[in-house]
Amino acid sequence: MCGIVGYIGAKQAYPILIKGLRRLEYRGYDSAGVAMISQRGALNVYKTKGKVDNLTDYCTDKDVSGSIGIAHTRWATHGEPSARNAHPHYSQSHNLAIIHNGIIENYADIKAKLQEKGVAFASDTDTEVLVQLVEYIMSNRSLTLLEAVQTALFQVIGAYAIAIIDKREPTQIIVARKQSPLVVGIGESEFFIASDASPIIDYTDKVVYLEDGNIAVIRLGEELKVMGIHGEEQELKVKKVDLNLGQIEKGGYEHFMLKEIFEQPECLTNCMRGRINVEGNQVTLSALIDHHQQLLGAKRIVIVACGTSWHAGLIGKQLIESLCRIPCEVEYASEFRYRNPVVSKDDVVIAISQSGETADTLAAIQLAKEQGAFIYGICNAIGSSIPRATDTGTYIHVGPEIGVASTKAFTGQVTVLSMLALCMANKLGTISIERYRQMVSELTCIPKKMEQALQANEEIKHLARIFTYAKNCLYLGRGYNYPVALEGALKLKEISYIHAEGYPAAEMKHGPIALIDSEMPVFVIATRDRLYEKVISNIQEVRARGGRVTALITEGDEQIKQYADHVIELPDTLECFQPLIASIPLQLLAYHIAVCKGKDVDRPRNLAKSVTVE
Ligand code: AGP
Ligand code: GLU
Repeated sequence: MCGIVGYIGAKQAYPILIKGLRRLEYRGYDSAGVAMISQRGALNVYKTKGKVDNLTDYCTDKDVSGSIGIAHTRWATHGEPSARNAHPHYSQSHNLAIIHNGIIENYADIKAKLQEKGVAFASDTDTEVLVQLVEYIMSNRSLTLLEAVQTALFQVIGAYAIAIIDKREPTQIIVARKQSPLVVGIGESEFFIASDASPIIDYTDKVVYLEDGNIAVIRLGEELKVMGIHGEEQELKVKKVDLNLGQIEKGGYEHFMLKEIFEQPECLTNCMRGRINVEGNQVTLSALIDHHQQLLGAKRIVIVACGTSWHAGLIGKQLIESLCRIPCEVEYASEFRYRNPVVSKDDVVIAISQSGETADTLAAIQLAKEQGAFIYGICNAIGSSIPRATDTGTYIHVGPEIGVASTKAFTGQVTVLSMLALCMANKLGTISIERYRQMVSELTCIPKKMEQALQANEEIKHLARIFTYAKNCLYLGRGYNYPVALEGALKLKEISYIHAEGYPAAEMKHGPIALIDSEMPVFVIATRDRLYEKVISNIQEVRARGGRVTALITEGDEQIKQYADHVIELPDTLECFQPLIASIPLQLLAYHIAVCKGKDVDRPRNLAKSVTVE
């Protein structure tokens, strides 16, 4: 979602703010802006639609002086993406400026009341309401900025991370958060603020992650002051950030997405490190040691997630049901939260999220918690909101994922789900010890097999040229490979803007088969497993209707080679781990097709990396 950056210190704020905004570009945005209190004491706000480059072009002849400033990349929720609606927003007097990530739900009521009192609005956003309300409170009740912010936040309903500055107090930034992330970096006589630590790590490794309901006063020459919702001072929890710049740069690849695809063998090794013993035959997850009663006692497991994480959940369901024999359901978090689901204290709810900030998933957790379920999180972003809202969990530890299209997080999530299912099945005694050991040992071989699968890159690049001009594509798979088909189709849609559908291969004949003709590329995941013969029949059905088949096959499979127009060979593994291997060529395919089409692979249109609004 949007990005927030702020600086106060002795240096010029503008270059720091711009560099910070660029670091946060991966979150997805539609417009950008900065506000600085200049050397002459003016509060200058500059904003443009589109990329940060547009903003810097616009600012070339502007006064960008000042050592205090705030900046923002917006992902519109209220009001079209435009310079006018971009943040920062002034208050009516132009004394205050605000940046905000989130949604003020009751903005319309507050706006109407303020308009009645004569306040004029300059944008269509929910955000502007907050800065106007703060100013109104300040002037009508003679309160300080801090007091007015506190009072205003009591009146707003919604989610926010905000930063606000006042040109009459050029040594202070007030920040606050509720359900949207905010980090304060503490340097030598300077402070930084940001939505995550990536814009801060160039300057300091000392950070404070604000908690929900916190307001912080950042004043030059004073210690950072963090308060709770009623103004009660909180103990300062300064953490050392362990993110390094190398991790968030492209490492020689043309795009973050490609780097992240190629990183997967290493990421999965990191994901399993310390959890699978060196002999490779035993999994230990600390969550299962600390909370074995709740987890093993589950009568039912409900997985909640969105997008790619939901696809990982579909694989998790098959793993959990087949290995642990516990009924498991997978829900879109956005549907679950609004349909009054039946949840009980005997349920374990597994929330899966790369960013750990997805608003729908957080809301689903909240709802399940209220009904007494035990919540287990599978997240990537350390210290993000979801891991903090769960009872326990397991980080996937695949490092920051910058490409908007999720790749390594997906395989990391499937790896954690595999370890969880194996660990639980072993403790529950639902699989034999031999089978357990054999499966754990095979899991440790996956990184090597992924490396092998990545060797098909050049071949896939070549194939991508053939499919660049396709209008529609169909992805088919069965069993564990059905979610892989869904994920392959999602990747293609997201970055190449080609319409694609994932379908269970056998279900095709109940509808989508009508779409098949020579113009419709069909990608079939047809590895050697229980359903192999059945999938071959599905391939024949496609061929009989003139469809062009590209099949992902187990290496050495000569049979399918006879029927398919193209094949991609994959190393063999256990059926349940096949998604970890089979998703790689589909990620690469989507990537190369998007590159051939000249699309912005890492920042596809209309998408946000963390969707912090519902
Ligand atoms: C993945 O490629 C997508 N951009 C998107 O579907 C994503 O998986 C979804 O928004 C969930 O995000 P999360 O894992 O951070 O919760
Ligand atoms: N709701 C605000 C807006 O539409 C902030 C959106 C965001 O988080 O970028 O301007």
